[in-house]
Amino acid sequence: KGRGWMSQHVLQYQGFWFNPDIGLKGAMLVQNHFKPRPTDIFLAAFIKCGTTWLRTLMFATMNRSLHDISSHPLLNTGPHGCFPCLDTHNFSDCPISDLEAIPSPRLLATHIPYPLLPESVIASGCKFVYIWRDPKDVLVSMWYFLNKLKPKEQPPLSLDEAFDLFCKGISDYGPFWDHVLGYWKASQESPDKILFLRYEDLKREPSVYLKRLAVFLGQPFTIEEEKEEVAQKIAKFCSFENLSNLEVNKCGVQQFNTEVAVENSNFFRKGQIGDSKNHLTNNMIEHIDHITKQKFNGSGLISDELL
Ligand code: A3P
Repeated sequence: KGRGWMSQHVLQYQGFWFNPDIGLKGAMLVQNHFKPRPTDIFLAAFIKCGTTWLRTLMFATMNRSLHDISSHPLLNTGPHGCFPCLDTHNFSDCPISDLEAIPSPRLLATHIPYPLLPESVIASGCKFVYIWRDPKDVLVSMWYFLNKLKPKEQPPLSLDEAFDLFCKGISDYGPFWDHVLGYWKASQESPDKILFLRYEDLKREPSVYLKRLAVFLGQPFTIEEEKEEVAQKIAKFCSFENLSNLEVNKCGVQQFNTEVAVENSNFFRKGQIGDSKNHLTNNMIEHIDHITKQKFNGSGLISDELL
């Protein structure tokens, strides 16, 4: 047990930290009730790594034959409405049974660390798209996000406190580094089942990675679509600039379950690479980079110039 980011207690379970009422409860429900299908496609990530963005890219890519950009469901539905997050889905009254009604192939999101996924999910042969991001930007993004969501009567969490907790691995679904490594190692063993993406790569070359994503999802862009630059159009449609300016994302609210509702605007802050430089001291930057090097050493996940 420990003190979490929003002064509620967090629990450590099998090496990872959870909010007991959301993350751990969700992971347990998934363990006990979820029925995987071999055709399921998961978007998996640690929080604040780009789930919102990748969700729209996966949804728009998978459904591109159904929806024209001008009448796209994402224009009226917040990104989180386009497919459910398995571990925070209506767990209060209806333990994930309505997921059964979704036709195959289902798109589902999850923050559950790889080692805590049920055996049945791995054995089903389903696919995962995992996204991660520079941990310094993750920390800053989380700090802003959780301070926005905290109850009004609670004092804000200082960046120093957030830094300290993050570096100790104490955050929802943390430690960050172990979360990334779990999926990374699994992706090395089964590259056809887990596509590993970095926020920074996707941001720099969205079309390149979108094409890779489409191939992985079993829906490669056709020659005709290449000519019409469909990948570029989807990337532009799902860009931070476009999505964050949609009315539904400026004013809409996403009801995650009976207890948790979040304004869509909270999922769009800056959408940039390296904003942590504007918030963290040099010492903080060095410390996180040091942990990243130590944790990822020998994994093949990063080379020094990426830090
Ligand atoms: P910042 O706080 O650094 O701006 P998640 O979706 O996993 O909660 O991650 C949220 C982060 O992704 C936020 O980062 C948010 O601004 C950014 N984001 C949201 N939509 C995006 C988009 N379309 N393109 C790039 N970044 C996006």
